[in-house]
Amino acid sequence: MAGAVESGSFSIGGKAKVHRLGFGAMRITGEGIWGPPRDQKEALATLRRVPELGIDFIDTADAYGPEVSENLIREALHPYDGLLIATKGGLTRTGPNQWVPKGDPDYLVNAAKKSRERLKVETIALWQLHRIDPKVPRGEQFAAIKSLLDAGVIAQAGLSEASVEEIEAARKVFPVATVQNQYNLVTRGSEDVLDHCEKNGIGFIPWYPLAAGDLAKPGSVLDGIAKAHKATPAQIALAWVLKRSPVMLPIPGTGKVRHLEENTAAAGIALSDADFAALDREGRRR
Ligand SMILES: NC(=O)c1ccc[n+]([C@@H]2O[C@H](COP(=O)([O-])OP(=O)(O)OC[C@H]3O[C@@H](n4cnc5c(N)ncnc54)[C@H](OP(=O)(O)O)[C@@H]3O)[C@@H](O)[C@H]2O)c1
Repeated sequence: MAGAVESGSFSIGGKAKVHRLGFGAMRITGEGIWGPPRDQKEALATLRRVPELGIDFIDTADAYGPEVSENLIREALHPYDGLLIATKGGLTRTGPNQWVPKGDPDYLVNAAKKSRERLKVETIALWQLHRIDPKVPRGEQFAAIKSLLDAGVIAQAGLSEASVEEIEAARKVFPVATVQNQYNLVTRGSEDVLDHCEKNGIGFIPWYPLAAGDLAKPGSVLDGIAKAHKATPAQIALAWVLKRSPVMLPIPGTGKVRHLEENTAAAGIALSDADFAALDREGRRR
């Protein structure tokens, strides 16, 4: 089976090399990303299968569960031999599917320290601000991130759902290693951010690379090309984002070993330029 190694590699911040196809650990939690997963055994098995498939980049957040995803990652994979565990802070939870930004500097610093404890690491390899809180001056949030970098709580930092203007404002305060925005074949609102990241060597982490599962279902623009490649629609959706940019680091999410294996095999699919362009045109129309 093709492994994540076939997706090529990218060096985050020029210092942490990972295979481009990663894993999103949001779906190893309960319904509404709240509480423990329905099938904890399968969730743990999924996490343990991740490194076996050559994936060495895992995305999580303190808000997933909350705490559940980070705790399961520690239980399944600590001490993370050869794995880069990236986490996020800055969103609080009040119930299933509810996410509330909280960007007070003290809160952010504490949140990163608690993630560090839960993950049981000395330094978090990559910590991303889950959302810039509009109620708190962004300069204060960026300064908190800089202080975490200076104190060695985190080794590198990134942003999520950020505009080009916000990325540039943040880069005046700390080196932005990654940007994590919603992006997939049919959700293209961050094209300008992606191009900016590519120009500046910033890793671009598309969340919802499968449109939360919609692109894994039959009946989409992916069907024809999937059939021709004897592949599944999910695999073509991932092959497409991987081909879109060398700074693209997709993190498809699943709580199932079978889906993880299917998604990882996408790394071995080489789309022709013509297939890529045809999907690109169709995707932009949606
Ligand atoms: N920064 C942010 O604000 C933000 C927001 C959302 C997500 N994220 C991150 O991005 C990652 C990816 O996003 P996501 O997990 O929400 O969405 P996604 O990767 O687009 O899709 C995941 C959904 O598709 C299903 N799925 C996955 N592989 C499949 C396959 N081969 N066949 C059929 N169904 C499949 C999963 O269900 P099963 O579990 O049943 O496989 C899950 O419901 C998350 O895990 C998280 O780490 C970040």
